[in-house]
Amino acid sequence: MKILVATEKAFAPVAVTQIREVTETAGYQLTLLENYKNVSDLLSAVSDADALIVRSDLVTSQVLDAAKKLKIVVRAGAGYDNLDLDACTAHNVVAMNTPGQNANAVAELAFGLMLYQARGGFSGKSGSELRGKTLGLQGFGNVGKCVAGIAKGFGMDIYAYDPYISTEAIPFAGVKACSSPDELYLKCQYVSLHIPANEKTKRSVGYNLLKQMPEDAVLVNTARREVINEDELLKIFAERSDFRYLADVEPDCKAVLEEKFKGRFLFTAKKMGAQTEEANINAGVAAARQIVDYFKTGNENFRVNKK
Ligand code: 3PG
Repeated sequence: MKILVATEKAFAPVAVTQIREVTETAGYQLTLLENYKNVSDLLSAVSDADALIVRSDLVTSQVLDAAKKLKIVVRAGAGYDNLDLDACTAHNVVAMNTPGQNANAVAELAFGLMLYQARGGFSGKSGSELRGKTLGLQGFGNVGKCVAGIAKGFGMDIYAYDPYISTEAIPFAGVKACSSPDELYLKCQYVSLHIPANEKTKRSVGYNLLKQMPEDAVLVNTARREVINEDELLKIFAERSDFRYLADVEPDCKAVLEEKFKGRFLFTAKKMGAQTEEANINAGVAAARQIVDYFKTGNENFRVNKK
């Protein structure tokens, strides 16, 4: 059995060592395609792979067509919007993710962004504190819960909205439940997004929600660029001089923001929420274990595509 790790953004070396240990102990061969620049490299590397581990790498029909022996692909991470699930099913490939494994790393980055912004980019100017401020978590899954745990330590006033979790089930670590996104945005100066990118959520965060936020509003996006309606984001920037946007990965409208709204946003150059040794070990090793378990026992616990 050949297991390919194909990562356009490589795992930390220590994570690769541990992935290798898991796969080789099980008697499988591990191959690496790291930091590749062209899809053609992925197409040729995947041609003899029985299993594939990826991060945000796109697993399209073209990749699956080239992967003649592929039986399973695991997205080492939470969001699997990069996997073409229907194509996986059509190719008889099991698709999985590794939920929760990099949640803490993403949550810490959300705080890094908030602190940097609140302290004026560490410029020496007087800034503000997070303690006592309202924080709204849109999405209360693994990442949202980690953010809540950290926010509690900061003494923030925490709210959450999640359409898949009842308001009775939300109270956790002092978090108060909201019954709609409107309520969350209306109450919270800081809103942090922890929702997946799918047909329901893409472009769902826009003018009508953002305009309701209290004074000195800050939107924190460590989820996905696609969940933001960028035309409406620009409208809010133009209308509200107190609005700020912090995101893991630059938006498509970055050039306009730079031209018109300098100093009111902060973006990472490359998606780095999960870029820690710990997260790479957790997610990478979980992916390798899930593959071994699938081959040895048929366990499909984390399967995300239809059969
Ligand atoms: C996830 O969905 O798990 C995160 O967005 C991590 O993505 P990455 O593996 O590309 O850093």
